Amino acid sequence: MKIVVIGGTGLIGSKAVAILRQRGHEVVAASPNTGVNTITGEGLKQAMAGTQVVIDLANSPSFEDKAVLQFFETSGRNLLAAETAAGVRHHVALSIVGTDRSDNGYFRAKVAQEKLIKASGIPYTIIRSTQFMEFLRGIADSSTDGNKISISPGLFQPIAADDVAANVADVALTAPAHGIVEIAGPERAPFNEFVARYLKAVGDPREVVRDPEARYFGGRVEEHSLVPLGEARLGRVGFDEWLRRSRAAA
Ligand SMILES: NC(=O)c1ccc[n+]([C@@H]2O[C@H](COP(=O)([O-])OP(=O)(O)OC[C@H]3O[C@@H](n4cnc5c(N)ncnc54)[C@H](OP(=O)(O)O)[C@@H]3O)[C@@H](O)[C@H]2O)c1
Repeated sequence: MKIVVIGGTGLIGSKAVAILRQRGHEVVAASPNTGVNTITGEGLKQAMAGTQVVIDLANSPSFEDKAVLQFFETSGRNLLAAETAAGVRHHVALSIVGTDRSDNGYFRAKVAQEKLIKASGIPYTIIRSTQFMEFLRGIADSSTDGNKISISPGLFQPIAADDVAANVADVALTAPAHGIVEIAGPERAPFNEFVARYLKAVGDPREVVRDPEARYFGGRVEEHSLVPLGEARLGRVGFDEWLRRSRAAA
């Protein structure tokens, strides 16, 4: 089967491409670096020819509120139009658990992306994932003021990128759900505790302050803002195991 992975050179994209190729599929790792750009439209028509499944794992180069909304709207419109023209049979996209329950700008852009998919008429599956463990450094850096990092005690359930990619590949090889499936890590604990454990493990001296008012990319974090409310598929890699693996790889 021919599968196009938009954002196929990214963190999740490159892992999903490897899994799907290993399973014997013809996989195009599409991104601006490989000549496929969902914003300009470059290379899209050629990439779509003969494609049955498209997996959208692209991310915006800027996380600024307006820029990220514009990225996911423009990218989504161009991509879905090209898929419709080519008769693609399954559109898979990676979104975020709680996108519809928060007021943060990045989440609003993911809601806009989801809306375009639902309205496209293309059979689809939206995978909503919790935060990637690999994203913890970025979270810490974006919440730092001097030597202190303010993080909400709202619940957090991060998932390893390897588990995300495995789920993405499984979904792409299954019939469209015409809806949303949720995935999360195997462990749930307060957000501030995960960030503190991460910093300790990597020897980062910054201090994590538990702050119920701390914002996450501009949005409030209530107790259940970032975790699945219903059933979710759980990843296999626990946080300590992931910390061990990432230290070994460093
Ligand atoms: N971070 C989290 O915790 C989290 C949680 C849930 C869901 N997600 C979602 O997961 C998805 C993948 O994230 P990631 O961390 O794997 O992303 P990433 O590593 O930042 O990779 C982004 C990919 O998008 C590609 N890209 C950028 N602009 C593009 C364009 N105009 N046309 C086509 N491709 C373009 C990049 O290509 P180049 O390499 O050529 O620039 C790269 O392959 C995102 O949609 C994100 O919203 C993230």
